[in-house]
Amino acid sequence: MQLKLNLIAAACGDNLGIGINGRLPWKLKAEMAFFTNMTTKTKNVNKKNVLIMGRKTWEGIPKKFRPLQNRINIILSHQKLDYENEPIVCQSLQHALDTISKPDLCEIVENIWVIGGHAVYKAAIDHLNCFRIYLTYIKKDFECDTFFPSIPKNFIETSDTNIPSDIQEENGIQFLYKVYEKVSN
Ligand SMILES: NC(=O)c1ccc[n+]([C@@H]2O[C@H](COP(=O)([O-])OP(=O)(O)OC[C@H]3O[C@@H](n4cnc5c(N)ncnc54)[C@H](OP(=O)(O)O)[C@@H]3O)[C@@H](O)[C@H]2O)c1
Repeated sequence: MQLKLNLIAAACGDNLGIGINGRLPWKLKAEMAFFTNMTTKTKNVNKKNVLIMGRKTWEGIPKKFRPLQNRINIILSHQKLDYENEPIVCQSLQHALDTISKPDLCEIVENIWVIGGHAVYKAAIDHLNCFRIYLTYIKKDFECDTFFPSIPKNFIETSDTNIPSDIQEENGIQFLYKVYEKVSN
């Protein structure tokens, strides 16, 4: 498998807010369903996708939904955390990629999704293997204390036929799916 990193995030406002007090600032069922579908679906039914997330993002997921089902959950932490069987804990993004490259995992992994938060997104954007950023722009200002990193100039907007290109709306909140692809290192 190719160790391409795909980032997926939903962000609001000009400063791309993504979180508040360890949680998402909004409740958007359709956007959450989009996240679940994008990160779960595989072409090969015998394979799974990997999710890479920071420790705080993991802790912000309600216990009944952890680990995020039908996906291999990897948590980044500098601490020696012991979550027993699931999820896998890695000490850096590179450590996660090295773990995924090992024969027992690489044979069953199809795609890698980096799901936040801030420092994990930043490490992935700066990584040589970064491929795409799937960003949902939420067109309402929510109070946030965590932000998506700025998107470097070597990422350009691209199209993906799986992604609706028109404005979405839920509970009066509008949002738009965009995809950026890295064109050079
Ligand atoms: N809107 C969205 O799409 C979205 C997506 C994800 C998260 N969020 C929100 O964002 C917030 C959480 O994000 P956050 O930025 O505060 O925290 P985070 O990135 O989820 O977690 C931070 C922790 O992850 C570990 N970590 C991060 N980068 C690492 C690296 N390169 N190597 C090793 N360990 C690393 C460290 O854990 P240790 O301290 O254990 O060393 C660090 O303290 C929540 O509010 C969440 O709901 C929103």
